Amino acid sequence: MNRSGHTKTKVGTIGLLKKLVKSVIERHGYRVIRYPVARFHSPRTSYPISPKLTERHDSYFARVAKREISSLWPQTDEAFDWSRSVESFFRYYTGRPFVENTGGSGFHNSFWLYLLCDVLKPQLIVESGVWRGQTTHLFRQVAPDAEIFGFDIDLAHLEVPPSTAHFIESDWNSFDFGAIDQERSLLFFDCHINQCRRVIEAHERGFKTLVFDDNPPLEFIHREGLPGFPTVAMAMAAPEREDIEYLFQGQKKEYVCNDQTLALMEDARKHIKTHHEFADVGTKSGYGGYSFLTLVELV
Ligand SMILES: C[S@@+](CC[C@H](N)C(=O)[O-])C[C@H]1O[C@@H](n2cnc3c(N)ncnc32)[C@H](O)[C@@H]1O
Repeated sequence: MNRSGHTKTKVGTIGLLKKLVKSVIERHGYRVIRYPVARFHSPRTSYPISPKLTERHDSYFARVAKREISSLWPQTDEAFDWSRSVESFFRYYTGRPFVENTGGSGFHNSFWLYLLCDVLKPQLIVESGVWRGQTTHLFRQVAPDAEIFGFDIDLAHLEVPPSTAHFIESDWNSFDFGAIDQERSLLFFDCHINQCRRVIEAHERGFKTLVFDDNPPLEFIHREGLPGFPTVAMAMAAPEREDIEYLFQGQKKEYVCNDQTLALMEDARKHIKTHHEFADVGTKSGYGGYSFLTLVELV
């Protein structure tokens, strides 16, 4: 029996019944069509229309962005126009060339990455884990003058023009950036590789402002099929020696937190000044995509 109280026999019986019903229907010349149910709303098809309602909707996002970003960077320009930025994000997001981005960032990440870049105006953006290139495309739109590097060990899925960024088919740690302007550089890790190791690599190369996607604490590791174990959130909690076993979509996953893992987490932690999980803008709005996107600032 599993946690939901279902026995394997019950699930098997339901499966058999479904097959039986399908075969009876098909024998009578009909077809069973299963329409996929959209998991989230899209701001392309679900959005406010009347002006006052649109203002309410946009000002919610502007308020959350202002609260989060200016608490992280109190020196944020007083004159920064949050409403303009939110409006510009929605224009970008609804017109982007990707209708869906399975396997990559959704609404929540896109919102924060866009607003963050609009405020911080980084000159250098480094992305580790490009996939189809949706987030690289977003960076290019919001930061047209930035130098952008996109690293992926497999660039076969890329769907954006090569001119979007310097795309490099390797791990980021084999690249020499030379001296960087720490205050104007942003590093986005979305590659599902050991996040504590990534913190140490970033520190060694002089980067200060890091964003990690898929950074759950240990209690929510079951969300990840391929966690960047140990994640930064795991290091920021009070980790202990532990054998970790869980199911991810029916598949058994196992990790171990041993003395070596604890030492690595300790090493990463000492470089971290700020660890801030961005407020969830995906769930309330229905646009989805929440995945523990986190800002990590190094000392
Ligand atoms: C979740 S996807 C990236 C999604 C993308 N940033 C987006 O939001 O649309 C993860 C990507 O990381 C890549 N990856 C795996 N190992 C990597 C490594 N060592 N360095 C860089 N990328 C890696 C995978 O090939 C995959 O394309």
